[in-house]
Amino acid sequence: MDVECIMKYFVCNFKNKLTKEEIIKYNNKIKEIESKKVKLVLCPSLPFLSFFDGLCIGSQDISSFVDKTITGEVTGEQLKSLGVSYVIVGHSERREYKHEINIDFINKINNALENDIKVIYCIGETLKEKEDGNTYMVLEKQISEVLNNVEIKNIMIAYEPVWAIGTGNIPKIDEIKETIEFIKDIIEEKYEVNIDVLYGGSINKSNILDINNIKVVDGFLVGGASLSPDSVISMFGELE
Ligand code: 13P
Repeated sequence: MDVECIMKYFVCNFKNKLTKEEIIKYNNKIKEIESKKVKLVLCPSLPFLSFFDGLCIGSQDISSFVDKTITGEVTGEQLKSLGVSYVIVGHSERREYKHEINIDFINKINNALENDIKVIYCIGETLKEKEDGNTYMVLEKQISEVLNNVEIKNIMIAYEPVWAIGTGNIPKIDEIKETIEFIKDIIEEKYEVNIDVLYGGSINKSNILDINNIKVVDGFLVGGASLSPDSVISMFGELE
């Protein structure tokens, strides 16, 4: 093999943004995107999961209940039937506003894996935890309390410092590198697997190249800057 092709993930987390009309326009624009270096995964709100033609789709949520009948929940089986390939679990907004805890993440991960849906498990420290010097301890706890209880296959980690989400602030490039190395090292040590680790938090056109240049970063989890297809296309341009 003469050409080494390293594929990086570019995961768009639209959160609770974009209406039906905006999603339709987004689809028309984004389907032209092509890249051999970057894999695009779109994570719209649940009602819009089937609005994107031929693109790789992720869900922002999955039920933590498997055998119960529950209003408002969406199961792995349902997501699979829509062709959903990825699911985001453990996002700090779900931890904070929906009070989701480790057992929820464990059940959600199991529900996904049983249905061949790959998991993007989010971890990250708050500003206070960072300032107190507890970043690594917090990350190790978030990893082991969940991953000790699931099968480690088809899981990647998204390192999203809580204080970097939606603030325009990102860690220093060296800090991102060192923290992602730490995450990879402890996962290799504990579970004897190499795992992909994405970075997320205030990624935009002006910082994506610097983050991309960090070899240990396997991709990006992008919120605000993914809401416009033009912005995504121009960030892809930076990565080509
Ligand atoms: P921002 O890119 O808006 O900071 O959001 C990051 C995020 O939370 C992605 O999951």
